[in-house]
Amino acid sequence: MSEINSDLMLRASFKYLDRMSLKRDETLLIITEPPTDRRVAQALFDAALQKGAQPILSMTPYRGEHNMDPAPTLVAAMKAADAAITLIPYESADFYTRPFLEMLQSGTRMLGFLSGTAESLISLIYKHDFLITDRICEILEEVISKAKTIRIISPKGTEIQADLGGRPVQLNPGRVSLPGDEGYLPPGVVGQAPLEESWAGKIVFDAFAYPVGVLRNPITLEVKEGWVTDISGGREADRFKEWFESRKDPNIYRTCHYGFGINPSLKRLSGLKFLDERMYGLFDIGFGTNDLPCFQGQIRANGHTDGLMTEASVFYDDVCIFEKGEFIHPGIQPYLKPA
Ligand SMILES: [Fe+2]
Repeated sequence: MSEINSDLMLRASFKYLDRMSLKRDETLLIITEPPTDRRVAQALFDAALQKGAQPILSMTPYRGEHNMDPAPTLVAAMKAADAAITLIPYESADFYTRPFLEMLQSGTRMLGFLSGTAESLISLIYKHDFLITDRICEILEEVISKAKTIRIISPKGTEIQADLGGRPVQLNPGRVSLPGDEGYLPPGVVGQAPLEESWAGKIVFDAFAYPVGVLRNPITLEVKEGWVTDISGGREADRFKEWFESRKDPNIYRTCHYGFGINPSLKRLSGLKFLDERMYGLFDIGFGTNDLPCFQGQIRANGHTDGLMTEASVFYDDVCIFEKGEFIHPGIQPYLKPA
């Protein structure tokens, strides 16, 4: 890692602000919550000022829990800003809350960097080649939007399919430009919420499950008409099962989306869901809430979780585009080397 100095931080911050098309005279609200790295907030503030924008830096006390509403004063500022950056810790993520949705509806565009640090600003944003992930997003959107069905298999035993039902493709290029746009850095997941009741088969996660962490032993889930009917495996499967039970909401057992990790800058599992699900080579299946604008799904549950598998092969209408964890689509292959 090259030495992190203020010049490098500033250059990285300009790249960040370019990804959100920040213009002169626009108001930019930077939302922080300790322990998020203040060096990142300061560098973004300075870069926005140099661009002639009007940055406002806010800090709220640590929440440490998902889906807690932000304070009303902050909410008013979120709605009033042209653009916002949320630098809060991942464990405080509030993007399923009503105030957050209202901020987007009011026209604020938001590009978040959860649990961002100076080190990850440099390694995952400054050094990242956005051409690669932008191009993969474009090609996958074209392929997926024309398809009717998806089938996923893996050597560990995944064998599951679903109908796509014309649902939108969820892209995460890490770029926002229009009022109400929502995005996150680093870029990474391309996914979709197939028709909820159409999921049928077996899922085997061998890489990661939230909140269990990086997996040593696989977790197997049986899915019938979209509902998880059984979770089995070792101790990690038991912990995953306990998390589902702890939500005390039957809707948490509903299969709600899938996603490809497309980001080759992420090289190893970190144990942090929002990074690991972006890592090139991994494939994600999620459960619980999906009634978000990006998915247009029908499930509102008391939570959301994801699991990740390696070596997935993915077929759209029986055409394979991703084989054992690697894109084989001819439009994508030149951009990527095996993970
Ligand atoms: Fe998810």
